[in-house]
Amino acid sequence: MTNINLQDFLRTRRSIRRFKTDLVPDSVISEILLTSTFAPSAHHRQPWRFVVLKNDSAKQHLADSMANAFEKDLQQDNLPQAEIDKLIQRSKSRINGAPVVIMLCLDMTDMNQYEDKKRNRAEFLTATQSVANAGMQLLLAAHAEGLGSVWVCSPIFAQETVQQALDIPKTWEPQAMFLIGYPADAPKVRERKSLEEIVKFV
Ligand SMILES: Cc1cc2nc3c(=O)[nH]c(=O)nc-3n(C[C@H](O)[C@H](O)[C@H](O)COP(=O)(O)O)c2cc1C
Repeated sequence: MTNINLQDFLRTRRSIRRFKTDLVPDSVISEILLTSTFAPSAHHRQPWRFVVLKNDSAKQHLADSMANAFEKDLQQDNLPQAEIDKLIQRSKSRINGAPVVIMLCLDMTDMNQYEDKKRNRAEFLTATQSVANAGMQLLLAAHAEGLGSVWVCSPIFAQETVQQALDIPKTWEPQAMFLIGYPADAPKVRERKSLEEIVKFV
């Protein structure tokens, strides 16, 4: 791939939220996961963990569990019930409508532990940055396979619920969920802030 093609490839990735019903072959899912693990990580500790959901009942169980937690949060915000119902329904149908769901988790087990809070917090941040790198690499690997995907942050707001629904160890902290499938639409490029706004050259 030339530099120009690579820039173009990186800039044409879009968040895809609607998918065709076509199944994604297991070999393709494995390729994506493998590429994701080539992301850089702090001390090369690779604190990422993945849970792959393909069957309808597993997705539905996750969607229902997360919807219950989401509903409680929204009720605390005093949103009208009709609005809550709409958001819950959208959340469920997105999960159930994705041929593949990948839950990306953080495991701190292999990271350093310090005596003081300040360094532990910094270490935690480096681990979450590492997991985010794997997430970004996963999005790009899916894009390379002609798949669409979207990063969904709701699991980080319902970590225990997700752990229970997926029956994963307590050390696997859900960070993000990726909905993956062949794109059913082609969303427009979302406007980016200009470099003038966000860059300072010194
Ligand atoms: C950390 C993070 C959290 C996100 N959470 C959500 C989400 O919960 N739901 C969603 O539909 N999109 C989510 N997105 C996708 C963003 O909305 C999307 O990347 C942004 O609008 C730019 O669009 P693009 O990805 O098509 O360039 C998230 C992206 C990131 C990086």
